[in-house]
Order: sequence, then structure tokens, then C-alpha cells
Amino acid sequence: MDLKKYISAKRSVINKALENHLTNYTLSRRLREPMAYSVAAGGKRLRPVLCLASCEAVGGRPDDAMTPACALEMIHTYSLIHDDLPALDDDRMRRGSPTCHVRFNEALAVLAGDGLLNTAFELLADWALDEEVPGPDVHARLEVIRTIARAAGCSGMIEGQARDLEFEGRQIDIDALEEMHRLKTGAMIRAAVVSGALIGGADNRRLECLDTYSYNIGLAFQVVDDILNVVGDPAVLGKAVGTDSRRNKNTYPALLGLEGARQKASELVEAALIALRTFGERAEPLRALALYILERNR
Ligand code: IPE
Ligand code: IPE
Ligand code: MG
Ligand code: MG
Repeated sequence: MDLKKYISAKRSVINKALENHLTNYTLSRRLREPMAYSVAAGGKRLRPVLCLASCEAVGGRPDDAMTPACALEMIHTYSLIHDDLPALDDDRMRRGSPTCHVRFNEALAVLAGDGLLNTAFELLADWALDEEVPGPDVHARLEVIRTIARAAGCSGMIEGQARDLEFEGRQIDIDALEEMHRLKTGAMIRAAVVSGALIGGADNRRLECLDTYSYNIGLAFQVVDDILNVVGDPAVLGKAVGTDSRRNKNTYPALLGLEGARQKASELVEAALIALRTFGERAEPLRALALYILERNR
């Protein structure tokens, strides 16, 4: 399949929907500007694309998953704005543009992040309560919201971020590193795939397969992010490289070496593909996305 075409078609509907939601939900121009700036700066839109593709893979209509897909991207974008703040990673470039706190200021970057996070959940709650919404019933929609909240919060990304900071400058073992990466990055990727599957009406067996798939690509994604922080091209990546070693971060290349990290990433993607073995043609985008995660250079 032509993944490039697939992603770019999905990206453009996601971008349009994101723009609409931001306009509808953010009254204040002062806040909308930094929020929209970081969202519109670009980004691969991997999480929303995965959500739509997963819905499709179980026979659902991808359109039914559009609102949660946008919410996932808003939450992800907020996490990047805060991750880049001086109190965290102190980065100056993101998505090919100056980071939000550099372009505006720290206070507005904190608030823009808060704004995106809360807008995402407001959007999800409206979606859950809207009787006109086609697709999943209210129970399934609440399950989606719980899945996303858990992944974004203290059982997922936030806990992972806390560990990432706590472990700076300290040698941890591979199990602790893996757990940190799963929380920090894997959880949101998993939530994207599981949400899409719930919306598409997946049965338990399929949900389990997709859970395994996403567990593996989620970790693979962060392993590759670590690798790109060593060997990537900042112009292509849209963010600085070499920053992990400067900040004494625990990463896969630091623990396993570059080759070891590459090997790990490809084993994970292999495991993800095996989990989709019983899925037919409709899961082709998910398969292609797994390979893309491994081969990406941005
Ligand atoms: C970057 O995520 C941060 C991590 C979780 C590793 P992405 O690489 O998906 O960033 P964008 O959305 O494309 O900018
Ligand atoms: C960001 O992780 C992960 C988040 C949950 C925001 P990193 O700090 O490792 O990612 P980059 O390299 O800044 O994108
Ligand atoms: Mg970080
Ligand atoms: Mg960072």
C-alpha cells in the first residue's frame, strides 16, 4: 500500500478538524495563538492516524474516530510544549519552529499546554454526550475517554515524564528504562490504537491483538526517537539532536549501544506485526505504520 498517500490524506482531514475544534473551543485570542501555533507547527500526526487506522482495521468507519483522534493530538501537543520548557528538557526547537516558550513566553507556554489538555477532554465529553454522533454507544465512548485519561495521566505519560526527570544523571537498568519508555511514550500510542479499536467495535480477541501491537510499536517509537537523538538530522527532525547525552538521559543507545538499540526496535516491530497476523487486508495501514516507525528519519 501507498502509506505516504494514506498518511497525507488522513493528516489533512485531521488538520482541518483540529483547526475547527480550536476555533470553537478557545474563546481567548491570547491563548488560542500559542495553542494553535504549536498544533499548526506540524508534527507527524502519528497518534491520530493510528487511531483512525485501528478503527478501520476492525471494520469501523474512521470518521467515527475523528474526535478522539483530535483529542489525542491535542494532548500530545500539550505534552511536547511542557516537555520543552526550561524546567523540563529546555529545548528551543520543535516541529521545525521555535518552541512555544521561545516564541511566546514561559507563562503562555504553560497555559497553552493546560489549554490543549483541557480542551481535549472537553471535546471528548461533548462527543460522549452528543446523541447525534454516529458509531459507538455511550458506554464505548466512556471507555475511550477512560483509556485516554489513563494513558495521559499518572498511570501513563505523566508518570513516565516524572521518571525521565528523576533518572537524569543516574544509571538505571534496562527494565527500568523500558518501563519508563512505555509510560512516557508507549501509553499514548497504545491509547490511540485501543481507542480506535473500541470505536470500531472490536471484539475482545481483536482488542487483545491490537493491544499487543500497540504495546510493541509504542516502545519501538521511543527507541527510535532515542536513536534519532544521536544520529538524526536536526533539519529533518525539526528538533535538536545530541540533547539526551548532554542532559545525561537514560536512553536505549546509551544502554545498549546504537546497534543494540536498532536491533531492539526491529524486534519490537516484528512482534507488532505478528500480533496482526490474523487481521486481513484492512490492517494494511497498521502494518505499514509499524514499519514506518522503524524506518522513519523524522
Ligand atoms: C515526539 O513525538 C515525542 C515523543 C513522544 C518521542 P513525535 O515524534 O510523534 O512528534 P511530532 O508529533 O511528530 O512532532
Ligand atoms: C517526550 O519525550 C515525551 C513526552 C511524553 C512529551 P522526549 O523528551 O524524549 O522527546 P523529544 O526528544 O523531546 O521529542
Ligand atoms: Mg523529555
Ligand atoms: Mg524532550
